[in-house]
Amino acid sequence: MKIAVLLMAAYFLGNFSPAFFLGKLTANIDIREHGSGNAGTTNVMRVLGVKLAILVLICDLLKGVLAVWMGRYFSGETMAGVCGLLAVIGHNWPVLLRFKGGKGVATTMGVGFMIHPQLAWICLVVAIVIIIITRYVSLASMSGVLLWTVLLWKTNGESAHIWLGIALSLLVFYRHRSNIKRIFNGTENRFDVKKS
Ligand code: G3P
Repeated sequence: MKIAVLLMAAYFLGNFSPAFFLGKLTANIDIREHGSGNAGTTNVMRVLGVKLAILVLICDLLKGVLAVWMGRYFSGETMAGVCGLLAVIGHNWPVLLRFKGGKGVATTMGVGFMIHPQLAWICLVVAIVIIIITRYVSLASMSGVLLWTVLLWKTNGESAHIWLGIALSLLVFYRHRSNIKRIFNGTENRFDVKKS
């Protein structure tokens, strides 16, 4: 019973979409119908500007942090990972928003920082360098989560954490299918901030 409640709480925590609510609240738009169509930080930056994007980044990241904390506090390390994963799934496919959510990058970051902060910092720095060089946030997102998983494996991380990294990487790559196609045909959106 306790486990079922924890799993549901993690999934529904992920359902809360700051990108969607701030779009409605500040501009009366559905962010999923603008820009790249993604309910996430990068698209909010593009469509609504930097201040709201920072707010979205913090809220989405905190969802991952809180989900892992919940699982760890009420059950243990395995449930910490499962709750983190469910928060990302809830963010990507929120039943409350007809299963059309985001790509789960910021929430994955929150999970990463809670599971292995040192590696998460390394990956964040690498991702920022990739954004500066290429201006592709999508490429940086995919590289960051993949690197986190590889580093966990190479540094002999717990096997449950390595499996979590593999699952998170698969989710991030799956949600970036259209970005991958655009990167290969040279039409991917570059990092862009809405001018106010
Ligand atoms: O966090 C999502 C990012 O990696 C790509 O976003 O809007 O360019 O598809 P977007």
